[in-house]
Amino acid sequence: MCGIVGILGTAPVAESIVEALKRLEYRGYDSAGIATLEGGHLTRRRAEGKLKNLELRLSEAPLEGVIGIGHTRWATHGRPSEANAHPHASDRLAVVHNGIIENFRELREELKGKSYTFTTETDTEVVAHLVSAEMRKGLDPVDAVAAALPRLKGAFALAFLFEGVEDLLIGARQGPPLAVGWGADEMYLGSDALALAPFTDVITYLEDGDWVVLRPGRAEFHDEHGNIVERVKQRTVAGALLVERGNHRHFMAKEIHEQPEVVARTLAHYLDMLQGKVRLPFEFPFDPNALDRITITACGTAYYAALTAKYWFERFARLPVEVDVASEFRYREAPLPERGLMIVVSQSGETADTRASLHYARTQKQHILSVVNVPSSTIARESHIVAPTLAGPEIGVASTKALTCQLAVLACLALAVGRARGKLSAEEEFRLVNELILLPGLMADVLNHEATIEQIAHSFAKVQSVLYLGRGTNYPLALEGALKLKEISYIHAEGYAAGELKHGPIALIDEVMPVVVIAPSDRALEKTVSNVQEVAARGGRIILIGDARAAQEAAVDLSGFVEMPAMAPDFAAIVYALPVQLLAYHAAVFMGKDVDQPRNLAKSVTVE
Ligand code: M6R
Repeated sequence: MCGIVGILGTAPVAESIVEALKRLEYRGYDSAGIATLEGGHLTRRRAEGKLKNLELRLSEAPLEGVIGIGHTRWATHGRPSEANAHPHASDRLAVVHNGIIENFRELREELKGKSYTFTTETDTEVVAHLVSAEMRKGLDPVDAVAAALPRLKGAFALAFLFEGVEDLLIGARQGPPLAVGWGADEMYLGSDALALAPFTDVITYLEDGDWVVLRPGRAEFHDEHGNIVERVKQRTVAGALLVERGNHRHFMAKEIHEQPEVVARTLAHYLDMLQGKVRLPFEFPFDPNALDRITITACGTAYYAALTAKYWFERFARLPVEVDVASEFRYREAPLPERGLMIVVSQSGETADTRASLHYARTQKQHILSVVNVPSSTIARESHIVAPTLAGPEIGVASTKALTCQLAVLACLALAVGRARGKLSAEEEFRLVNELILLPGLMADVLNHEATIEQIAHSFAKVQSVLYLGRGTNYPLALEGALKLKEISYIHAEGYAAGELKHGPIALIDEVMPVVVIAPSDRALEKTVSNVQEVAARGGRIILIGDARAAQEAAVDLSGFVEMPAMAPDFAAIVYALPVQLLAYHAAVFMGKDVDQPRNLAKSVTVE
């Protein structure tokens, strides 16, 4: 989390740094700051809160420097305040940091002993003083950074700016991503290519452990041992990707509405629509028949996509699947089958726990297949096979279109593995592929019911809690519905497998708490309807998301009904995700919440 930028420019850079920070604000938004050199002297502007506060500060007191660094923060150590906002400075340099310095307490004590005074509650300030201490020994900036980096434990992407040195920026990476951008006359550092897209589409990514010395027109890359290394330049498409809200009030609304299009685009990448077959854009570098099981790991919404995929792989490929949240998986030391398949799912491709799980799986000699939305991400680069989701940049912190595209990819993979293992006939594949092809149209249809969903969502505004129920692939969707509502409206919500209702949560039922039941016409409908009746018998407030048949079979008074088009059940969760997202979105908007940048959250979770 946190976004960092550096520009070694030829004209005043503050405005460009703000522009890049706007593209990084999804990584954190509790404070922001910029440092430049003016007449060789470090000058900083910092502000608590959103980037617009920093812009205001800059309009009152502009910065004129032609070299600078900037930061947008998601607090790890120390509350969000101007004092804790980056860049942090010592007597000879300023630094911006994304990540966590785990040994900062120990370093702080050591540096206090060298008469350094600490003015912030952050872990980052030790980095500034540590490099300064090396410079006081007589080292130049490059050697000082080289001496300081090995002393830092933890995860970091760093950018340094030095007092009196107008032609030098230094970047370093251990964990969180960092990219160098090559401009015509300018050089850039940024947390991702999207941030640098207004300036350049030529990017070099730092490898883990790398650090880089930027001078006008050149970059010298060093590996973790200090050796000078070559790192490739690549052209990115980030500049071509729109990051505008268009006519929508929020990015989240835009991204919800984009789903028919981006799911269609993603499916087209994996399907032969004419033949009604799956056509993967890669070969499996293993024999699917030799697999005993699949392991999948992810965090948050991506984890719910993984949970859904478990049903598909088990049903269509007859393969046992183990799914775990990455923050647990990484420490479990789970035994994995020899040359097994590990699937990691991540929108950003940068999530720290997911990456660590991938690293563990590599030590266990697994084949790593990643389902990622950012093809240039670290997870993509560390995988053996990349199955891209073609959702385009997802800016809203609450994941929406990334989820449905992940589900589309995972469904295709399950069918492909099923076919390769001989567990799925050509006829079954044809039938299922045709169901997939219909999904974008069904999604577009659902979006036409937004007004009804909005009305229902308004009734959430005064409640303390909401329960979501679903069975089969709609159980993970119930979990996702609860997560979505919590993260953007701050209403407490829980998702349950509908069959678990009577094992505890039924005690919560009263006439106030909405119970959202996700009930497509599938083989579990009868059972789900029984659960609806159990809630109704206790005077519960039922919101049914289902087709006309579900409503008819439920035969109870409903507080709300989102009528869904009739569809085959196998991949219905991909379509049913939309009303679940819209309920959360409209509840949060009605309550006046900041849906794109909800409190305490960040889009890319690059720390543990
Ligand atoms: O980038 P990733 O898919 O790895 O991110 C995983 C989670 O952090 C993410 O899905 C998070 O839960 C979202 N805020 C959910 O809306």
